[in-house]
Amino acid sequence: MHLFSKPIEEIIRQRYSCRTYVKQPIHTDLQRRITDYIATLGAGPFGGSARFELIAARDKDLKMLRQLGTYGFIKGATGFLVGVMTNGEEDLEDFGWLMERLVLYVTDLGLGSCWLGGTFTKRSFMQKVSAQSTEFIPAILSVGYIAPKPRKVDRLIRRGGNFDRRLNHDRLFFIERFGAALTLSEAAEYALPLEMVRLAPSASNRQPWRVIRMNDRYHFYLRRTPGYRESSLNRLFAKSDLQRIDMGIAMCHFELTAREIGLMGEWVKDDPGIEIPDELSTYSATWLSQ
Ligand SMILES: Cc1cc2nc3c(=O)[nH]c(=O)nc-3n(C[C@H](O)[C@H](O)[C@H](O)COP(=O)(O)O)c2cc1C
Repeated sequence: MHLFSKPIEEIIRQRYSCRTYVKQPIHTDLQRRITDYIATLGAGPFGGSARFELIAARDKDLKMLRQLGTYGFIKGATGFLVGVMTNGEEDLEDFGWLMERLVLYVTDLGLGSCWLGGTFTKRSFMQKVSAQSTEFIPAILSVGYIAPKPRKVDRLIRRGGNFDRRLNHDRLFFIERFGAALTLSEAAEYALPLEMVRLAPSASNRQPWRVIRMNDRYHFYLRRTPGYRESSLNRLFAKSDLQRIDMGIAMCHFELTAREIGLMGEWVKDDPGIEIPDELSTYSATWLSQ
């Protein structure tokens, strides 16, 4: 059974970070479907939840949306999906997992979207969703109709940052220990869920997820990019620990793909205690297949 109107693999392959949109408000019927979908989200795999709001322009208030501010990275978005968490709820993986479901849903509706973890003006979005001082916005999503022609700057962002490229399987997925590449035949029916992890979006396309298979367990590790959090750009812009959000996104792609092709399992905390290559890598969670 499909989770969306077509196979999830198609939706994941169709998605990319769209930074230029047609200046046309999202149809009210689509807006309603998005808000209905938000209502079904519930909690993430670690039990954390977030409140999501769709801010969408009506005919005359396109200007209002521009004032919300994305530092010029995004042009013409007629909607934003804003996720709000309570301070102290550190489950950013849950946030990534929940928001990515929204990404896949709007992709299925034919809309373009782009995760924004840094390049949005925090204060104006906080005001717009009436966030309390006890709340924070880890990231938002721009949404709208895809412009037929991307701007030059879109191409620059993508190529300049190598944002089109993905690491090969053998750099991401291992068997028993770090460095021992998991072959496609060893991955067997899990080859597809893993490939969908590889295609996941990540902040600055850093692809910080690593997976180690041990029998019926898939252990997920976060391999932090050296100096990424401390970089001056990130200190200036990033609102939260974006690489933990990346992990939640990867877990979402993995789990939804596995479930759609009939592979059952659940997320558990089960650190196998295997040797970690460096202090940048930390254990996140395990998919226990049944
Ligand atoms: C958590 C997160 C935060 C991101 N923040 C930004 C951002 O602030 N500005 C931006 O232009 N793109 C942002 N992106 C988009 C990434 O650059 C993009 O996903 C990555 O380069 C891969 O390209 P693709 O999404 O087209 O496959 C973010 C992505 C993620 C997952």
